[in-house]
Amino acid sequence: MNPVGLLDGKLVDLNENVVPMEDRGHQFGDGVYEVTRVYNGRCFALKMHVDRLYRSLRELTIPAVYTYEELAEFHELLIKESGIMDGAIYLQITRGVSPRAHGFPDSVIPRLTMSIRATGAATDKHKLEGAKGLLIPDERWLRCDIKSLNLLGNVMGKQRAKEAGCFEGIQVRDGFVTEGTSSNFFVIKDDVAWTYPRCNLILTGVTRTLIIEKIAPELGLVVVEKKFDEAFAKSAQEAFICGTNSEITPIVTLSGQPVGDGSVGPITRKIQQAYYTIIDEECGRK
Ligand code: PDD
Repeated sequence: MNPVGLLDGKLVDLNENVVPMEDRGHQFGDGVYEVTRVYNGRCFALKMHVDRLYRSLRELTIPAVYTYEELAEFHELLIKESGIMDGAIYLQITRGVSPRAHGFPDSVIPRLTMSIRATGAATDKHKLEGAKGLLIPDERWLRCDIKSLNLLGNVMGKQRAKEAGCFEGIQVRDGFVTEGTSSNFFVIKDDVAWTYPRCNLILTGVTRTLIIEKIAPELGLVVVEKKFDEAFAKSAQEAFICGTNSEITPIVTLSGQPVGDGSVGPITRKIQQAYYTIIDEECGRK
């Protein structure tokens, strides 16, 4: 199992220096990305990720120069070449390489880089037993709906959580709880699931969409996409974060205060099981 890279569709060694000094992604964060999980040697929810990728590109007026079929092929090539059965594929597209100037260059070809790495068992314990969340100010820009390379707010927030001994920073903007630094956030109150509404201030997570559109209807769970504040979150029965990497991770304390009785709640556990079933079915996992 080797981590492998891909540059504009061609295999490269991950340690090779392939980023030119004047790549706009490198200098301005002028680009977009996706992270897709591989289970049992198959990509999970690839179509949803690629659809979101195209939307992010459109929002930044970066031309889409690869078809869905080509991108699917590149994902498969990385899996085959690396031999990785359980891992994550990172994909990024930058506006391209051009002498540094803020305005868009007149003609430039977007650059695609991809890599695959095996996923470790680092967060398995959190998924099983729950993790700690820290409420932090949301200091990001106003287009969090675009999966852009500009992640400084997220990076600073995650580090702040890490230094406080927490797994995820749960961000608060204008008094309302938006999302995690690399995940969406849900709370359960009176057996109803609450999550921040879809808008420019959060990323429309693939996992979030699967919960709302597939899992909740199956479980007969009502989801309300409405703003809620810190006090509401702290007094919730249950809380969890969701995302490609975190899957469904229960949050059992928020800023040091137990959520509910401080253990993983039954509704969160059911959502988690349902999510694993979707993966099992789509990826042929036993
Ligand atoms: N992050 N919100 C933010 C800010 C995220 O960065 C992510 C994912 C999500 C969840 O989205 P999804 O369910 O589509 O993974 C929500 C990825 C995994 C990352 O940056 O590594």
